[in-house]
Amino acid sequence: MEFTRRIEQLPPYLFAEIDRKIAAKKAAGVDVISLGIGDPVEATPQHVIDELCAAAQDPVNHRYPSYYGMPAFREAIARSYKRRGVDLDPDSEILPLIGSKEGLAHMFLALLDEGDAALIPDPGYPVYQTGAILAGGEARFMPLTVENDFNPRFSDISAADLDRAKLALMNYPNNPTAAIAKPGLYEEAVAFARDNNIVIANDFAYSEITFDGYRAPSIFEVPGAKDVAIEFNSLSKTYNMTGWRIGWVAGNAKVIEAMGRVKTNVDSGIFNAVQLAGIAALDGPQDCVAEMVEIYRRRRDIVVDTLGAIGLDVNRPKGTVFVWVPVPDGHTSESFANLVLEQAGVVVPPGNAYGPHGEGYIRISLTVKDDRLEEALERIKQHL
Ligand code: MLT
Repeated sequence: MEFTRRIEQLPPYLFAEIDRKIAAKKAAGVDVISLGIGDPVEATPQHVIDELCAAAQDPVNHRYPSYYGMPAFREAIARSYKRRGVDLDPDSEILPLIGSKEGLAHMFLALLDEGDAALIPDPGYPVYQTGAILAGGEARFMPLTVENDFNPRFSDISAADLDRAKLALMNYPNNPTAAIAKPGLYEEAVAFARDNNIVIANDFAYSEITFDGYRAPSIFEVPGAKDVAIEFNSLSKTYNMTGWRIGWVAGNAKVIEAMGRVKTNVDSGIFNAVQLAGIAALDGPQDCVAEMVEIYRRRRDIVVDTLGAIGLDVNRPKGTVFVWVPVPDGHTSESFANLVLEQAGVVVPPGNAYGPHGEGYIRISLTVKDDRLEEALERIKQHL
């Protein structure tokens, strides 16, 4: 049997590997606490569940969904952008996705030919690199460093890195570093894309999870951004809906059309009942979002204060469900993640799993109950 070069190059998915480690530890009788994946432990809001249950009873919804998503769902997405002052045409500028991960991976098939390149943040969400590999392309890193507040420096990108580059990815509020976009970053990105004839894709999955009065801007708040940009979002983190698999990509109509062509050939869309529940999430009361943000803010403070008290210099993030933690002196990302797992039974992803510039960090997810988070931190403290 022979496999493609793509598959040979494709690493196992980070969280699939982490799940295996958790299962092995649990089988050995360890009370594992996972601060690994960003997967909200709280339930989806009740009005969203109710809408799913009602819609699932209607046989109309049991048939194939529309390939390009239900018009009513696309309109609800357009309304959510309108509340930010951004106008999007629901027919040509919005495409529902089976979660933004799916769309991110498929985007590369629309934009890269064999040998083309994508500029991706390092560290970054693993799908950016593997999506490029699956399309037969190359991922080139844009380093995110603490010195530049984990923002890319477009002026540092070399001519060699730009050769055959078709796409640059951004993601703010950022996973895994929990950084926010500096003022002017999106303006710079749009100008860079225009000058170099590339597409900018902004992953906006943590758009609503922001703290201390900070509001995360959409890239479309930059005038003219739609000429060069697309933006991904999802209901996963905002409404505790990771398992439901529903998201979207919005923006440049030509890119949306090309992605639609890829997707209609490989999948058949999102269950209508899930899309109807998605409308209930976007159009319904938003106090559930404010409640979750307050929960994450409280947990963020517990993590930053507890680790700060034992000498780890942790930045207090303004967004996301993560804290990006520098490892203690004398450790690498891997050695510290292994120590924490072996000694404390706590799972944390090592920063280098997100790219070479993630070395020297681990990521802590805030999507566990407070008591488990506190216990995990207590165990880490004891073993340091
Ligand atoms: C994360 O924790 O980075 C994401 O939730 C993982 C994922 O989307 O697979």
